[in-house]
Amino acid sequence: MAILVTGGAGFIGSNFVLDWLAQSDELIVNLDKLTYAGNLDNLAGLEADARHIFVKGDIGDRKLVAKLLSEHNPRAVINFAAESHVDRSIHGPAEFIQTNVVSTFTLLEEVRTYWANLAESEKTAFRFLHVSTDEVYGSLEKDEPAFREENQYRPNSPYSASKAASDHLVRCYHHTYGLPVLTTNCSNNYGPFHFPEKLIPLCILNALSLKPLPIYGDGQQIRDWLYVRDHCSAIRRVLDAGKLGETYNVGGWNEKANLDVVRTLCAILDELYPRADGQSYATQIAFVKDRPGHDRRYAIDAGKLERELGWKPVETFETGIRKTVQWYLEHQDWVQNVTSGAYQHWVGKQYGS
Ligand code: NAD
Ligand code: TYD
Repeated sequence: MAILVTGGAGFIGSNFVLDWLAQSDELIVNLDKLTYAGNLDNLAGLEADARHIFVKGDIGDRKLVAKLLSEHNPRAVINFAAESHVDRSIHGPAEFIQTNVVSTFTLLEEVRTYWANLAESEKTAFRFLHVSTDEVYGSLEKDEPAFREENQYRPNSPYSASKAASDHLVRCYHHTYGLPVLTTNCSNNYGPFHFPEKLIPLCILNALSLKPLPIYGDGQQIRDWLYVRDHCSAIRRVLDAGKLGETYNVGGWNEKANLDVVRTLCAILDELYPRADGQSYATQIAFVKDRPGHDRRYAIDAGKLERELGWKPVETFETGIRKTVQWYLEHQDWVQNVTSGAYQHWVGKQYGS
């Protein structure tokens, strides 16, 4: 038995691979292009593990995908591979359309061919699980109810529009061809191996380097934070028991304004790693120009996943964020490696000097 995971060297994918192998001996074939966001350091320790086969490559490479499917005969494909950063999608949307739309389409085509030729029992058991985001639903007003699965898609950034397009493709492969698909739409994740272009790891690392903590606009934008390992357990649960063709919202019931998130980080750092001059890290908070088209609020109603499949997150924001800060403090080598070279170039482009 085997599963094929795409994007398994990125933030969520690598957590998923590690989590999977911690509780199963089923083979994982991990196809990842190793873009700037993919990092084999996330999978350190698995080099000699026969249960994990890493393949550097593109989900849009038809021949490669076909070869991996026929060689390993997976019972499921879990698609994490994507361009994932909103700010980068604003600077350069083309890559997002290429990977999130065109290459996801190509992947679906190859999976459809593979699935169509499986024996009947394997065909019935097969699953294609597409990992998506709450950002496809657009932005909520302060008093609007949280996103439910039946909410209209109203994507506002090139990133969310490209993810929305991929969700539609996945949906239609079920409706038209009968491909056994499942889609999860998750809120903002945080935790180990989070690339420091995103708010939480960026602010932890900037704080420790005594650099400004950039808050876009007024910092009152709200996100619904979920500890990454809870996302992994939700994906496993949906893979095991999700109803074919359905989508499941995944969230942590943790709505927080960005400014509060950063203040919380600063307070934990003040306690665990106080600044030499005795000042709080919060003094480094700096309000900067807002993101164009910045969505004001995301909130996930994860009630369906709880009612139908019995899933609930384990971590609260308070427990998860403390674990996360501790992880970054204890993994300075990982930080050094990801923040060299190309990362510096991105920081210069996005935040100036
Ligand atoms: P990430 O950017 O950290 O990792 C993406 C991974 O995909 C990288 O390892 C990259 O090398 C790989 N990749 C990119 N293009 C590829 C291609 N064409 N072929 C093969 N591999 C490719 O992203 P993440 O935060 O781990 O997100 C994973 C998935 O979860 C994405 O689909 C994202 O939309 C979704 N998601 C993310 C969040 C979040 O908060 N990070 C929340 C909800 C959903
Ligand atoms: P981010 O981590 O980029 O995730 P997303 O845009 O997918 O929600 O951003 C989280 C929130 O933090 C979002 O409202 C934008 C904001 N933000 C800042 O205020 N400053 C920053 O430097 C970054 C990267 C994000």
